[in-house]
Amino acid sequence: MLRSRIIGTGSYAPKKVVTNRDLERMVETSDEWIASRTGISERRVADGENASEMAAKSGKAALRAAGVSPKDIDLVVVGTVTSQMIFPSTACFVQAALGIRAGTPAFDVSAACSGFLYALDVADKYVRSGAAKKALVIGVDVFSRIIDWSDRGTCVLFGDGAGAVVISAEKGSHGVLSSNIHSDGRYWDMLYAPGSARSNPFEKTECASGFLKMNGNETFKIAVRTMGGAITEALEGANLRPDDISLLIPHQANLRIITAIRDRLKLSDDRVFTNLDRYGNTSAGSIPLALDEAVAAGKVSAGDIIVFVAFGGGLTWASAAVRW
Ligand code: UT7
Repeated sequence: MLRSRIIGTGSYAPKKVVTNRDLERMVETSDEWIASRTGISERRVADGENASEMAAKSGKAALRAAGVSPKDIDLVVVGTVTSQMIFPSTACFVQAALGIRAGTPAFDVSAACSGFLYALDVADKYVRSGAAKKALVIGVDVFSRIIDWSDRGTCVLFGDGAGAVVISAEKGSHGVLSSNIHSDGRYWDMLYAPGSARSNPFEKTECASGFLKMNGNETFKIAVRTMGGAITEALEGANLRPDDISLLIPHQANLRIITAIRDRLKLSDDRVFTNLDRYGNTSAGSIPLALDEAVAAGKVSAGDIIVFVAFGGGLTWASAAVRW
């Protein structure tokens, strides 16, 4: 049976750090409030960089870690909602930047914070069907560009980042064991960012755009419930139990959400990876950035069961279980 094995990871976060103390000077907030309600201490903010440049840097690092030449990549899938252009896709820019062969399919998927797991799910299906042998899968977002920096309810939560994996078709028991993606468009207005191409081509207006809007309390409750269910789904799909999880890498939105999920699964702290204290919520960048840090920190070994779970605007949610 063909599986998608993750053979390399990479990530990139902008150099510019914005601390909670910096935000105290911008909006009516405090380091104490942000840290205690979210677990976030600082976040990175892009300074002139766009999503495709960040994505390409993370992708290059993943290729290097995998020991794979760009010429051997036969699929590029990027999860993002903050491309620098309506089109081409971020994936096409990444393809050109990394020298991935002309003719290779490259496209984006739009699923907000679930974007990376959506991209992984699509790429996994290509690999398992035999349509691709080596895929570059990236999650990237630059939410600093769609945040209202005068809205304390949202600006303290998000940051910019990118992460990537190279997956390779392999026979055997290592790789993606189960993967699930879901959405429920009825709840679109829980978390959204307006902005679109002009609706009337004869109007002389610029593209309509606006800042990210979120119903934080409701989103919080739905996130805890939904992510818990998605983990169960990933485990059942792979015939595993919570005890089998070596490391849970959840979407890094709020430490209280992660703690609630951890308690529900009765997992010890060392089996749940978090880095949101330093990055905040980087949307589609969140999970692959955390994975790359977990790998670099030696927290992932061959044979480990890694479970990913995400939740975001759409509403969308997704999960995957992987044997490393
Ligand atoms: O990635 C996609 C998924 N996203 C999420 O999962 C995010 C889910 N939501 C959350 O993480 C939390 O709901 C928030 C962190 C956004 C908010 O935390 P909360 O504990 O739900 O706070 P709240 O919205 O109930 O607000 C409590 C109080 C309010 O003041 P009053 O009405 O009690 O006087 C807010 O106005 O905290 C106030 N507040 C703040 N105070 C200081 C809201 N934001 C801030 C702030 N600094 N930055």
